[in-house]
Amino acid sequence: MKTFIFEGRQISRIALGTASFGGQKLDVEKSFEVADAAREKGVNVFDTARVYGFNAPCGRQGYSEYLVGRYLRERGCREEIFLVTKGGHPPVNDRNISRLDRKNLEFDVEKSLEDLNVDSIDLYFLHRDHPQMDLAEVMETLHGFVQKGYVKALGASNWRPDRIAWANEYARTHGLTPFAASQVEWNMARFDDRGNTFDLTQFAMRDRDVEDYRRSGLLVMCYTSQAHGLFSKMQEAGGYDALAAAGGLRKYTDPDNRRRGEAVEALCRKYGISPAALGMAYLTSYDFPVMPIISCSRIEQLLDSLSAPDVELTEEDFRLLLGDYQC
Ligand SMILES: NC(=O)c1ccc[n+]([C@@H]2O[C@H](COP(=O)([O-])OP(=O)(O)OC[C@H]3O[C@@H](n4cnc5c(N)ncnc54)[C@H](OP(=O)(O)O)[C@@H]3O)[C@@H](O)[C@H]2O)c1
Repeated sequence: MKTFIFEGRQISRIALGTASFGGQKLDVEKSFEVADAAREKGVNVFDTARVYGFNAPCGRQGYSEYLVGRYLRERGCREEIFLVTKGGHPPVNDRNISRLDRKNLEFDVEKSLEDLNVDSIDLYFLHRDHPQMDLAEVMETLHGFVQKGYVKALGASNWRPDRIAWANEYARTHGLTPFAASQVEWNMARFDDRGNTFDLTQFAMRDRDVEDYRRSGLLVMCYTSQAHGLFSKMQEAGGYDALAAAGGLRKYTDPDNRRRGEAVEALCRKYGISPAALGMAYLTSYDFPVMPIISCSRIEQLLDSLSAPDVELTEEDFRLLLGDYQC
């Protein structure tokens, strides 16, 4: 497993996502098996969020955090795991309402510490942005969490790079803690968010942002790093058109994904690996800290995603996969 140093800790280049822990497909026992398997493969970063659990059978926000906390205690591995969680998510039934004010953020971080049953969180993300929110107040509040020892480092999830840069400039000029990480949707597929009317507070990596991130020094954590299994499902179905006919493209209907599917096939043949393993190789081959977060509905998928964690793609591979398409 590739690793790097972040905030003084040696961490795996792949993180385990726990949004589906305790859900329909991963009951508690299976969730713990998935966490065990990930650790055996060298994963030592766990990603959760205050809001996760709202769509589990129990319907309780914080349920994923509670299960992660229970797992860390039962396995006695809190020290081993770099623990990431998020707060400040808007109400799940109205994402236009901001919860980035001090009162809501304090409520969330205290609840996270309680459910996780830990003294401190290694990396704390704001889950979504709200363009009207005063960033000065946000950064002052977050710095207070660091000073109290609630959290060790800060991140912004689903924030545009210019908003992060503005917030970090404010933090630096006012002696506050800046964001050290960003979490966005990023995978091998091209995602055309013009059709995404459901949730405008989500943010996917655009080709033009990559260079800014490389220069920024931020850790980039990538969610939906398998594009919900798009390329594995394309291979199983017998190609892009077959998957499209079966209604399996989901939001990845951009026509460039047909070309990318063919490139994925060629690269899988070149390295003798699966599309899911290639997805991990792609994100972990960037020459700056990029960390895919993996998830699964069956443990076999997790093992597949982790089956070739050391493959390094070349510049030529990148060109083949991405083409010259600019978002
Ligand atoms: N910051 C944020 O706003 C945000 C948003 C979303 C997620 N996250 C984090 O990122 C994590 C991962 O997100 P995600 O679940 O959307 O990622 P994902 O890995 O792209 O999607 C998971 C789904 O992909 C399919 N899959 C995964 N591995 C596969 C394989 N080897 N072969 C075939 N199919 C495979 C499975 O679909 P099927 O179930 O259909 O088989 C699985 O349920 C979450 O747990 C959470 O920690 C963060």
